[in-house]
Amino acid sequence: MLSETILTNFTMSTKLTDILQLPCGVTLKNRLSKSAMSENMGSRGYTSNEKFNRLYARWAEGGIGLLITGNVMVDRFALGEAHNVVIEKGIQDTNLPLWAAAGKREGTHIWVQLNHPGKQSPKSLSKEPVAPSAIPLKKPLNRLFNTPRALTEEEILDIIARFAYAAKVCKESGFTGVQIHGAHGYLVSQFLSPTHNQREDRWGGSLENRIRFVKEVYLAIRKEVGDSFPVGIKLNSADFQKGGFTQEDSREVIKQLSAMGMDLIEISGGTYEAPAMMGAAQKESTKLREAYFITYCEEVRKLVHSPLMLTGGFRSAQGMNAALESGVCDVIGIARSLAIQPDFPNQLLSGETITSQVKPLTTGWKFLDKTFPLEIIWYTDQLHLMGEGKIPNPKKSVLGSVLRMVYKLGKSSIKRVR
Ligand SMILES: Cc1cc2nc3c(=O)[nH]c(=O)nc-3n(C[C@H](O)[C@H](O)[C@H](O)COP(=O)(O)O)c2cc1C
Repeated sequence: MLSETILTNFTMSTKLTDILQLPCGVTLKNRLSKSAMSENMGSRGYTSNEKFNRLYARWAEGGIGLLITGNVMVDRFALGEAHNVVIEKGIQDTNLPLWAAAGKREGTHIWVQLNHPGKQSPKSLSKEPVAPSAIPLKKPLNRLFNTPRALTEEEILDIIARFAYAAKVCKESGFTGVQIHGAHGYLVSQFLSPTHNQREDRWGGSLENRIRFVKEVYLAIRKEVGDSFPVGIKLNSADFQKGGFTQEDSREVIKQLSAMGMDLIEISGGTYEAPAMMGAAQKESTKLREAYFITYCEEVRKLVHSPLMLTGGFRSAQGMNAALESGVCDVIGIARSLAIQPDFPNQLLSGETITSQVKPLTTGWKFLDKTFPLEIIWYTDQLHLMGEGKIPNPKKSVLGSVLRMVYKLGKSSIKRVR
């Protein structure tokens, strides 16, 4: 019965307003999802707070079907950014149920993206980050990140258990699903990469060994949350680096994870070393089809029946509808547009011929544009505005945002790291 429903999802011409039944049996109310955007808004004790509640309530009111939170870490000693929320034993976050409730308004789903940064934990946050192998990030990033130490077998098992514990807490707190962050060069993706994973034990070497970590994370989470709770993953189409994780590798990973019962596979790409997820290194022909990874997604579509979410570059109702109607993907992932237009989903769902206001950013100073990750800073600033109960401001000065975030988070924590 379930597989029939899933097949129907794929064979009919899909619209943004269609519901989607996931393999676990749960239903999403439409085909729009907010992709993860790190909020950088956690409180001192690594907990969430009322700003998260306001922000996610605002997004839920905007009509989106699925909200995926910014990355939440599973170890307070392994942070990706300043002010990350952490879920681990010993941290009591009494706000989590309120955050979940805010995101569930209007029948919206809210899933927590769980992450471990591995070596992508900046110097300001980690003296000695951990990774599959003791291989530093390449120049010039090695100035901002310390060389990692290779994880021991015991530590690998501990991190897997941490993902499972965090997923259990998410479920108990009322979140309606979790997503494993397997993309963008963080720990899961470091394990998958032949460049970053040069271990000679059962966790490295062959692709079968490199996949082991993510499979074990998935199995451990599934064991904690059961078969009817959504578990998804965000994966790279490729790392866009010589000798790195290839599209061929990625297809095999997706095939195996799909067979294991993954509920939603989000396709992205790139790492800090080659940030393709934000639109760098994309051919003009790809940009015309809006979605950066659409060609790759087409290939994956032929291989698996798991619901696919495609993220990166979607800007117009026309582009999103074309992708859904062609059957390439089942869910449209949107990030930056929602940081400035929280009502974008309602407009799209009502059939408006609308285009997002996302545009290239500059401070007007080349030096500053090169030093700071403007996209991250400016959009994070917009999230903070909504968290404070204000309305986002697409006309906000980029220079003003850089200065505000330097003041709030410190220069070292926001230099160009991704
Ligand atoms: C401010 C900001 C924070 C982000 N944080 C995350 C994150 O925590 N996890 C993640 O998987 N992707 C993160 N991303 C990447 C987005 O999820 C998405 O892949 C990317 O922005 C491309 O989609 P878009 O073109 O719709 O913006 C972030 C992007 C931005 C702009």
